[in-house]
Amino acid sequence: MRILLIGSGAREHALARSLATDPATTALTVAPGNPGTAEIATNVDVDPCDPAAVAALARETGAELVVVGPEAPLVAGVADAVRAAGIPVFGPDAAAARLEGSKAFAKEIMAAANVPTAMARVCRTIDEADDALDSFGAPHVVKDDGLAAGKGVVVTDDRQAAHDHAGSCVNRDRRSSVVVEEYLDGPEISLFCLSDGTHVVPLAPAQDFKRLGDGDAGPNTGGMGAYSPLPWAPEDLVDEVVERVALPTVRELARRGTPFVGLLYCGLALTSRGLRVVEFNARFGDPETQVVLARLESSLATALYAAATGQLDTLPDLRWSDQAAITVVLASAGYPESARRGDVITGVSAADAVDGVHVLHAGTATRDGELVTAGGRVLSVVGTGSDIDGARAAAYAGVAQIGIDGAQFRTDIAAGH
Ligand code: AMP
Ligand code: GLY
Repeated sequence: MRILLIGSGAREHALARSLATDPATTALTVAPGNPGTAEIATNVDVDPCDPAAVAALARETGAELVVVGPEAPLVAGVADAVRAAGIPVFGPDAAAARLEGSKAFAKEIMAAANVPTAMARVCRTIDEADDALDSFGAPHVVKDDGLAAGKGVVVTDDRQAAHDHAGSCVNRDRRSSVVVEEYLDGPEISLFCLSDGTHVVPLAPAQDFKRLGDGDAGPNTGGMGAYSPLPWAPEDLVDEVVERVALPTVRELARRGTPFVGLLYCGLALTSRGLRVVEFNARFGDPETQVVLARLESSLATALYAAATGQLDTLPDLRWSDQAAITVVLASAGYPESARRGDVITGVSAADAVDGVHVLHAGTATRDGELVTAGGRVLSVVGTGSDIDGARAAAYAGVAQIGIDGAQFRTDIAAGH
C-alpha cells in the first residue's frame, strides 16, 4: 500500500516509524515531514493545510491511503478534498472535525448523544462569562471555543485570571465565544478510537502530562510527556468508553450526515462522580501516540486502511506488547508562550543508541549540516521496558544524552504511576 502522511510533528514521526516498518506499506511519503521522517520516508514540502495541494500530491504519489496527522488540515478540509478525489483517507471531513474545532459543537454533540461530560455554558459576552464563572465556582475552567493547540484552556483558582482569559476569547472578534465549565477532579486518560463512521476500535489507553512543569505546575501545553499502559485504570474502562462515549458520538455524527472517519480522541477524567469527557480531538494525540504506537504489534497501515474504507468490523483484534512505554518531550526555551528557534541540538544519535530508546523529531530543522530547534516541542524521547520503571529509566537515560540550550522538560513523567 502506498501511503501519504500529512504533518510534521513527533506524532507524525511516530506514525511514519510504524508505517515504514509495516510489511503492508510499499511506499511512504510525508508532507511536509521533518528531519526525522526524512530518514525513513520521502518528505515533500507541501502546505499541509492546502486541500487542493494535498489532493494533488496524493494523486501524484499514487497514494492508496492518506493519513492526516494534525487538526488544522482536517478543519481546513484536507480530508474532504482527498475523499473527493476518490482516495481513501484516515481523517474526518471538516464537518466532523468540528468535534475538535469547536468546543461548543462538541458540547452540543455530547448533549444530543447523552455522553457524560462537564456541565458547561457557551458565552458570547464577558457578562455572560462572569455569570457562568460565579455559578460554577472555583476552580474555574475557561476554554477558547476555537482551535488553540491545547493552549486555549485556563484552569485556575484565580477569579481575575479566569475573567481575563474569558475576556480575551470573547473580544477577539464578534463571532468568537468562550466555554465556561464545571471543574472535573480525578486523573485524566486519553483513549484513542479508530472509527470508520459506524464501527469503533479502541487503542491502548495512555496518560498525557499537559502542564509545562513538574508536579503539574505552570501553563497548559500541547503535552510534555505520556505513558502506557495505565496499571491503575479500571479493568472495564475501555469497554465503558466505547459504549458510553465513542459509539454514541460516532452514531450521532452519522445521524447528522457527517460521519466521523478517523481517530476519535477521547480525553477523559475519572472523577469522583464517574467517567466524564474532558475533550474530544479529531486526530491522534501528541505525545500519547508516541507511546501507544510503541506498543502496537499489529499492522497500523491495515488498521487505518480498514477505518478509511468502512471495514473496521472485519479487522482482526489488535495485538499489544506487554512492554511499557513512556515519552519525555523536550521543548525549546520560551515554550509555550514564544518558543525560541535556532538552538543547536546535540546527542540525538547517542540517545537513539541507548537500549530501549528511540528519539522522535518535532520542531527540528537542519541548518548548515547541523540539527537546530525550529518549534516549541522539539523532540520526543521514547523509552520502552518490561515495566514502567524500566521504560522511565530508559527514556531519561536518552534525555540525558541530548543537549539543547535552554531546553525544558519534565522530570516526573510516569513517576508514582
Ligand atoms: P482541553 O483542551 O479541553 O483538553 O483542556 C486542556 C486541559 O485542561 C485538559 O487536559 C485538562 O487537564 C484541563 N481541563 C479541561 N477541562 C477541564 C475541566 N472541566 N476540569 C478540569 N480540568 C480541565
Ligand atoms: N496531548 C494532547 C493532544 O494531543 O491534544
